[in-house]
Amino acid sequence: MTLAIDHVSKSFVDPRRPTGALQVLQDIRLDVAPGEFISIVGASGCGKSTLLSLILGLDDDYQGSIQLDGQPVIGTGLERGIVFQDHRLFPWLNVEQNVAVGLRNAPLSAAEKAERVWDHLRLVGLEGFAAAYPHQISGGMAQRVAIARGLVNRPRVLLLDEPFGALDALTRTRLQHELQRIWQREGTTMLLVTHDVDEAVFLGDRVVVMEPHPGRIRRIVEIDLPRPRHRSDAAFLALRDDVLADFVDPDFH
Ligand SMILES: Nc1ncnc2c1ncn2[C@@H]1O[C@H](COP(=O)(O)OP(=O)(O)O)[C@@H](O)[C@H]1O
Ligand SMILES: [Mg+2]
Repeated sequence: MTLAIDHVSKSFVDPRRPTGALQVLQDIRLDVAPGEFISIVGASGCGKSTLLSLILGLDDDYQGSIQLDGQPVIGTGLERGIVFQDHRLFPWLNVEQNVAVGLRNAPLSAAEKAERVWDHLRLVGLEGFAAAYPHQISGGMAQRVAIARGLVNRPRVLLLDEPFGALDALTRTRLQHELQRIWQREGTTMLLVTHDVDEAVFLGDRVVVMEPHPGRIRRIVEIDLPRPRHRSDAAFLALRDDVLADFVDPDFH
């Protein structure tokens, strides 16, 4: 599914500000090819989550257009899924039921839903924990449940808002590999917001670097490295350092 973000600008009305409105996104332009993996990095406050919420269809109060396969995005839809940093699992539902929440609005029979849920529990390696409750599993496992829930509708586009931000480094690395494997297997278009440049370069076909006040695209870096990628390769390190340089540049504020 082609995602076309065309001249998107967004302001929030802020009664405390004399000017009345806070511009959060300015003229965002990005065309995403079907099956592409886009990483988005940028300082906090530069509008990354806002951009995802517009693509998800939670807010239609913006300028410009967002289209999927040529059709304007209107409201949320089953072809778009999201995973947040905090897994947002329901504590009173077990792992299987939490994944099934993603299918609430899907036009499937109960048997088809159950099969879909199990397919996705297997996809994230949690079939042995279907009956466990969120408080009984680790943070990394909870994030895998959230990924399964995000994918269970087989969305064409999966939005990920700092999905591994709260995890320890080892779990995070493991889940990056797992996400890459899922992406390669399912062919889902991925938009990953992260503040980890290493993660962005490891996973992305392209890395979109944003800058704040107002949030805009500073540049887009092609990551033309074969997969699987190795973080110690000279070419990987050169690209990572190139992106990191944007964050130490004195003009970047
Ligand atoms: N609902 C809202 N009302 C007013 N301001 C908001 C709202 N949501 C976000 N903002 C502001 O928009 C800016 C960008 O926020 P956000 O998209 O969350 O950035 P990021 O995800 O890059 O950290 C911030 O300055 C934030 O305070
Ligand atoms: Mg955010």
